[in-house]
Amino acid sequence: MRILRTLMKNASIGKLVDQYSRFSPSPLSMKQFLDFGSENACEKTSFMFLRQELPVRLANIMKEINLLPDNLLRTPSVRLVQSWYIQSLQDILEFKERDANDEKVIFDFTDAVIKIRNRHNDVVPTMAQGVVEYKDTYGTDPITSQNMQYFLDRFYMSRISIRMLLNQHTLLFGGRVRVNPAHPKQIGSIDPHCRVTDVVKDAYENARTLCDRYYMNSPELLLEEFNVKEPTKPITVVYVPSHLYHMVFELFKNAMRATMELCGDAMEYPPICVQITLGNEDLTVKVSDHGGGVPLRKIDRLFTYTYSTAPRPQMDSARAAPLAGYGYGLPISRLYARYFQGDLKLYSLEGYGTDAVIYIRALSTESIERLPVYNKSAWKHYKTIHEADDWCVPSKEPKDMTTFQSVSVVS
Ligand SMILES: Nc1ncnc2c1ncn2[C@@H]1O[C@H](COP(=O)(O)OP(=O)(O)O)[C@@H](O)[C@H]1O
Ligand SMILES: [Mg+2]
Repeated sequence: MRILRTLMKNASIGKLVDQYSRFSPSPLSMKQFLDFGSENACEKTSFMFLRQELPVRLANIMKEINLLPDNLLRTPSVRLVQSWYIQSLQDILEFKERDANDEKVIFDFTDAVIKIRNRHNDVVPTMAQGVVEYKDTYGTDPITSQNMQYFLDRFYMSRISIRMLLNQHTLLFGGRVRVNPAHPKQIGSIDPHCRVTDVVKDAYENARTLCDRYYMNSPELLLEEFNVKEPTKPITVVYVPSHLYHMVFELFKNAMRATMELCGDAMEYPPICVQITLGNEDLTVKVSDHGGGVPLRKIDRLFTYTYSTAPRPQMDSARAAPLAGYGYGLPISRLYARYFQGDLKLYSLEGYGTDAVIYIRALSTESIERLPVYNKSAWKHYKTIHEADDWCVPSKEPKDMTTFQSVSVVS
């Protein structure tokens, strides 16, 4: 009886996922996020938007989880992640028919949103654990790795976007006051006048503390700012400071580790140089180190999940945060950059050092969420049998040229 009930429940959840995944997610612009938080914005509007949009975003990515290899889906970690998504979808759908004019409903909804956010706190390490278990047990081939990379980029991007919606709602409407006491000028998690230099300095100081702890020393910071439009004014941007912090913190940790590993016991280390520039379209933050660089052949690999050249840190929360080792720093940072239509790239000069560049849209009208959508093209990525490359594979052995020579001698 119980099994039957579970089966029926799963079937009906499957139908709901199908139904909501037919809608495409609606990307919001920075301006729309700010409007939700403006004076005349109300919790009711946010409620009505979220009760439709959250199921759509959840369902779109749940369809993609279902396309993962069976053996990966069977790992306890991925099952757990799936159960969180199912539960959260159900929690939101509870509000589908509820009265938006009833204060109690609106209040309960905000409560549900907080619960969902907490439930999903550990999604990244749990999914990562599933992938590691799967790779360890079944090994990998290039196609599976490529599919996994494709999936994780989309899955984690979806999560960033869902958390952004949840956070905005709870920060704006969760407390008794709308103003966040720690950041009174922010609209939820967005700072309309985010001072880039301040965030960079803050991230540098915190990365430096970690670096000092591991290497007993750390490189200095050299910071330059070029505001092309208003040369005398500090560079500001409408952005989520915590996202910017995440990216530069990861880049600093990498740059510091490369510098310290290369320079060994030297008493002086080449500084890390940061240039922040504001043009008409782009706000660019370049973090340059003299840490020896990476060969071009390996650059793409650095963005794959779990790739790290550092020893794997102990999964022990009592210990201090490690400087490196999970291999998630670069790929997740690049997602944060891409989330609002920016990017993150590495340019390396092997033997010398690396420039890591974060691109952010300078205009808030151009900062629009970049969201994965489940459709036929996405589906094809998981199902297509990859065919032979359309570029020749260079052979390792030099070709025997004597046959060609003999032909020319005869003629
Ligand atoms: N500035 C850099 N100089 C040299 N190597 C780098 C640099 N940044 C990243 N890497 C390489 O890329 C790998 C992946 O980086 P990351 O994704 O941040 O994961 P982690 O730092 O946990 O290893 C690092 O282990 C390191 O080998
Ligand atoms: Mg790192």
